[in-house]
Amino acid sequence: MSELRTVSLKKRYRARTVVQDVSLSVKSGEVVGLLGPNGAGKTTLLKALNGLIPRGGSVLLDGAEMPEKTHEIVQAGVALVPEGRQLFPQLTVAENLELGGWLVPKAQRAERLAQAFVDFPKLKERATQLAGTMSGGEQQMVAVARAMMCAPRLLMLDEPSLGLAPKMVDELLTIVRRIADAGTTVLMVEQNVKKALTVADRGYVMERGTLVASGPAKLLARSTVIREAYLGADKDPATGTTSAADAVRRRKAVATP
Ligand SMILES: Nc1ncnc2c1ncn2[C@@H]1O[C@H](COP(=O)(O)OP(=O)(O)OP(=O)(O)O)[C@@H](O)[C@H]1O
Ligand SMILES: [Mg+2]
Repeated sequence: MSELRTVSLKKRYRARTVVQDVSLSVKSGEVVGLLGPNGAGKTTLLKALNGLIPRGGSVLLDGAEMPEKTHEIVQAGVALVPEGRQLFPQLTVAENLELGGWLVPKAQRAERLAQAFVDFPKLKERATQLAGTMSGGEQQMVAVARAMMCAPRLLMLDEPSLGLAPKMVDELLTIVRRIADAGTTVLMVEQNVKKALTVADRGYVMERGTLVASGPAKLLARSTVIREAYLGADKDPATGTTSAADAVRRRKAVATP
């Protein structure tokens, strides 16, 4: 079990601040959803937390400053399932999983692989199939199972349900919940806001690099910000718009002087 806390996390690309003063926490065994429109800075935040890009501000893992180098972060028990899976398509499912356990001592690696096949029984049937020939949903399962190979204390996922059919989204989010219930803390970026908030304990909403709302998932699902921006709130009598994208544009139009 593990707790993550960021204090005033920042990231700039040249003159442009993409993540600004983000202070959030993920408590032991929680699933926390990080939500927000395209370009809000969600992926940048996860990359900064995983040492893929330099960061400003402070990141604490169980109260101690998190290392900044990726291999040290992995050694500290943090794993990332990146956007777009990034599997090795020419390697089998089992080989992809083994690569996920590169930091695990060899003797334990076989044990971890056996455990992965218990946790993801569908992958056991496909152990010798080339990862590149798996369906999108199956590949996403491999990506999650691969991240779990090093038995992380903290797992971060960047849009795990992207491009998946609704049934597959449900299956994947159920797995994410199970992972947290088994003791791994989870921080998950999701565009599938409604579904994400049914499995998450808490959520944060990010817009233009800053956190604009946070709270328990159940409350957030009912909040005006979320309903307006993502869940298709009741038709706005002023504009007649209903879509999530329109709601985001409408809010931005109001916020922009
Ligand atoms: N390497 C980079 N150089 C310059 N700008 C970048 C770079 N990477 C990302 N950005 C910019 O930072 C902003 C945030 O991008 P980011 O990918 O973090 O957003 P996101 O919230 O993950 O969006 P999405 O929901 O579309 O995945 C965007 O405006 C993007 O263009
Ligand atoms: Mg992203």
